Amino acid sequence: MASSGANAETPQLNPVMEPLSWMLGTWLSDPPGDGTFPTMKPFQYLEEVHISHVGQPMLNFSFNAFHPDTRKPMHRECGFIRLKPDTNKVAFISAQNTGLVEVEEGEVNGQELSIASHSIARISFAKKPHVEQITRKFRLNSDGKLEQTVSMATTTQPMTQHLHITYKKV
Ligand code: HEM
Repeated sequence: MASSGANAETPQLNPVMEPLSWMLGTWLSDPPGDGTFPTMKPFQYLEEVHISHVGQPMLNFSFNAFHPDTRKPMHRECGFIRLKPDTNKVAFISAQNTGLVEVEEGEVNGQELSIASHSIARISFAKKPHVEQITRKFRLNSDGKLEQTVSMATTTQPMTQHLHITYKKV
């Protein structure tokens, strides 16, 4: 669990975040994730995920991908997940090492979270092609594994799956 700084005690989960408590924990890809897109050769990747809280009405997350053979760091992103109190409306706020900053919004229904990009910003020298839309689905499966699927549309390709990965809790 992330430190809450001056407050050394482990904080209680804010009740607002209870509908997303199934996402909390440290997760490791198992098996390696699958990357796809019409413009690229399929690839595999490892990913370490930390989803934590400090008692605020939000979750903190980091997703850190690694090359499966060399373990070289690859894609990284971190941010926050917020829930509109008394609703199932979720906002996912992420900064990525590729120079992309995005807000996705959607809904949590049981142990499934479906979100789609609401706004995307990028640095002026971001690599092309640019992403125009992103959708993600997170689900806690009956075997206790967390699953993430990411699709995207770019300036050259329509909405297509880019990532599919399952994680075990460690
Ligand atoms: C390529 C976006 C996450 C690995 C790309 C491209 C885009 C993109 C726009 C270029 C596509 C093209 O050339 O047509 C994203 C977004 C992500 C994401 C928006 C998260 C929401 C990841 C993750 C990995 C990854 C987690 C895991 C390692 C790659 C690789 C390529 C690629 C290996 C091809 C080589 C390259 O262009 O760097 N991604 N990506 N991506 N992505 Fe992702």
